Amino acid sequence: MLSKENNERITRVGPGTPMGQALRRYWIPALLTEELPEADGPPVRVRLLGEDYVAFRDTEGQVGLVWNHCPHRGASLFFGRNEENGLRCVYHGWKFNRHGACVDMPNEPEESSFKDRVKVAAFPVVEQAGMIWTFLGPEGEAPPFPQMEWMNIPSFVSKSYQKSNWLQAMEGGLDTSHSSFLHRQTDSIGKSFDPKNLRARAGNPKLEVVRTEYGFRYAGVRHLKDENQNYVRAYHYVMPFHQMRSHQGWSEGRPTVQGHAWVPIDDETCWVYNWMYLRSQEPLTHEEIETEERAFGRHPDDLIPGTYISKQNAENNYLIDRAAQKSGLTYTGIHGINTQDMAVQESMGPIYDRTQEHLGTADLAIIQARRLLLEACTDVEQGRYPLGSQLAEVPVRAAEMLIPADQPWYESMKDELAARW
Ligand code: FES
Ligand SMILES: [Fe+2]
Repeated sequence: MLSKENNERITRVGPGTPMGQALRRYWIPALLTEELPEADGPPVRVRLLGEDYVAFRDTEGQVGLVWNHCPHRGASLFFGRNEENGLRCVYHGWKFNRHGACVDMPNEPEESSFKDRVKVAAFPVVEQAGMIWTFLGPEGEAPPFPQMEWMNIPSFVSKSYQKSNWLQAMEGGLDTSHSSFLHRQTDSIGKSFDPKNLRARAGNPKLEVVRTEYGFRYAGVRHLKDENQNYVRAYHYVMPFHQMRSHQGWSEGRPTVQGHAWVPIDDETCWVYNWMYLRSQEPLTHEEIETEERAFGRHPDDLIPGTYISKQNAENNYLIDRAAQKSGLTYTGIHGINTQDMAVQESMGPIYDRTQEHLGTADLAIIQARRLLLEACTDVEQGRYPLGSQLAEVPVRAAEMLIPADQPWYESMKDELAARW
């Protein structure tokens, strides 16, 4: 459990809060490339860490991310005209380029130099592998952009909206023992499930956590008595909110590596960014992407049109099917792996009161993540860089293997856990 004070400390993300300050020292996913599909297209609202921004793709195809409010008298630049390499406020026509410079001020005398002294706050942007990232920390202090394997090989990205605090969502992702229960199913609905049901056969994995320069690596070791083997799933937690995990290609022999970034929109809502690629690094086929996204419940057909909000949500009890739950078709009766996660995590309330919880040995990864996040808060308060924030690359990948029970997992899996690009 956490003290009330520490619970506040690592969940709240607004400006000036300890965690908010720490997160503003890392590059943060802001939106997907697909949200700004064309040059001079409509601007998009972006809310991150409790503050509002506007993103636009200018005439050159480059993305700008600026403060929501026009510096003249505060109208939202979301309503702006995106034209000729800049966003023009529709209130009095002031125009700003993607660097935030005011390039036109048509309601002031032509000879006035006023516009040279006006700027809208603009934030650095990196667009790579279908995602647009930003750095919201102090101007000029953006660290190197942290390259990871999925950004440098053919991969697929998507995102889902979640109505809970980001930490609650992330803790659910780090927690490995829940997959033996929450995501169990006994019949074939989709192709991407484990016919041997290794996870379900040993629902009490032994967790091993090792701190690293990027966060920690950890493994759920499930002992399979009959064959004297260990089924090991090895993961990485990358500061401050990323995780990498492995998924067997159960039927086709095309295993994937997948991962998430749990990005706070504000204290009570978050984006769950999802990415995946084939371990072989071949491109995923259209069918593979469709099958996976449907199995996870985040296919466009699963969403309210024009949004990233699931049609199955708290208002309709995630369309829980009690008959399917009773028959064991699925453990939950809720369709979609991510939707199952969302249902239980949202059911904890917007910000769970962690003074009330009872953590066991299966919660070791969660405990370690909290420790690192609290440390990051203190580091930033005392003027140090938080863990992992200065890394130019995180060259690791997740893996899962069956290993003879008497062999140490990390040595056996070392090669499998190294990224290739
Ligand atoms: S408020 Fe934007 S130009 Fe006046
Ligand atoms: Fe899950």
